[in-house]
Amino acid sequence: MRVLLIGSGGREHALAWKLAASPMLTKLWAAPGNPGIAGEATCVPLDLADHAAVAGFCLDNAVDLVVVGPEAPLVAGLADDLRAAGIAVFGPSERAAQLEGSKGFTKDLCARMGIPTAAYGRFNNAPKAKAYLRQVGAPVVVKADGLAAGKGVVVAMTLEEALEAVDACFEGAFGGAGAEVVVEAFLEGEEVSFFCLCDGSTALPFGTAQDHKRVGDGDTGPNTGGMGAYSPAAVMTPDLVERTMREIVEPTMRGMAEAGAPFSGVLFAGLMLTKDGPQLIEYNVRFGDPECQVLMMRLKDDLLVLLKAAADGQLGHVSVRWRDEAALTVVMAATGYPAAPEKGSVIAGLDEAAADGVEIFHAGTARSDGRLVASGGRVLNVTATGRTVAEAQARAYAAVDRIDWPGGFCRRDIGWRAIERENGR
Ligand code: AMP
Ligand code: GLY
Repeated sequence: MRVLLIGSGGREHALAWKLAASPMLTKLWAAPGNPGIAGEATCVPLDLADHAAVAGFCLDNAVDLVVVGPEAPLVAGLADDLRAAGIAVFGPSERAAQLEGSKGFTKDLCARMGIPTAAYGRFNNAPKAKAYLRQVGAPVVVKADGLAAGKGVVVAMTLEEALEAVDACFEGAFGGAGAEVVVEAFLEGEEVSFFCLCDGSTALPFGTAQDHKRVGDGDTGPNTGGMGAYSPAAVMTPDLVERTMREIVEPTMRGMAEAGAPFSGVLFAGLMLTKDGPQLIEYNVRFGDPECQVLMMRLKDDLLVLLKAAADGQLGHVSVRWRDEAALTVVMAATGYPAAPEKGSVIAGLDEAAADGVEIFHAGTARSDGRLVASGGRVLNVTATGRTVAEAQARAYAAVDRIDWPGGFCRRDIGWRAIERENGR
């Protein structure tokens, strides 16, 4: 099979690595890709906003499947335009991508389908949002409706913070994404990431993970795209998976089909495990980054076969098997991340750091004068497997310590919650 992968981050490097291991693969391209992905695929500098150009590339090169990594091209309708040109795509339509593209859309679907989620209100002006906030009080969560690159959510412990967040949204802090605001009740519990492969009607559970959003050890400092992750998340028991499928994912699949927007691709449910059971915090319509990296290390089956089955509406005929191992990834970020990451620092020692059961996925790297340099905020994802999360953690940090990159940093406590659990604390 000839495959085009869209994207350029650590998530896409992990997808490329796993796709490249498929005996079904005959040719892999990545657009735009990165220096790590270039080890697995031919990188092509397509303009992803030019859907006709992407379709043209696929037709010229007899591409059998396009795998879309990030959300932005999906929300912009790339999958629709490729399908209209007769090209198979792993990824949702523009309408189905509203599950990530509009928080209000998802909340309304939850209300219609009886899906457990925080109580909420949707507002298109500040006075109404503020009146609602005064009525419900704090703690409370204020969210810009649209895509805000992982920002746009304020968990407000006081009413004042919440009122300020509403002003920031309507004053344009998140651009068009903040033209509408969702205010929702604060949920208490442990957060977990739950993934399903979907083909429009069938949803197949595709693993669990936990992410570390804050930049600093001990979950301190500002929010980030994710500083590390591990899989599986033991807190997500088989019973909870079954309940989440029944109460959250399956009604979502039905509701989307009824709305004429059947969901295909990967559905990433951010869940809060509350004392009343799992509640939906949010949906994403793509793999998590860096959650994908740990899932790919654990996946036993052929990723290409699974993604093609999802694209073809054939998920009812496949199953998914996982290695009986844990995986953990440590994100190495450039100094200054998340506020102002410094670009251009030289990275060395990746070959020395490589070891059995360790993969170093590239996120924000570039080549400059033959050297590997940092070109983004999150730069490397040092990923390892082990019999336990503790063992995977030890291997990942051993590799981190062999990397020669003075311009980078990482958290030293990725996996702490799972390791405490393993130790019976
Ligand atoms: P989101 O972008 O919707 O994932 O929100 C970012 C983060 O804010 C989540 O990962 C949660 O930690 C937190 N969050 C969002 N909504 C809620 C909520 N209703 N209650 C508590 N925390 C929330
Ligand atoms: N790591 C969280 C996300 O990809 O949204």
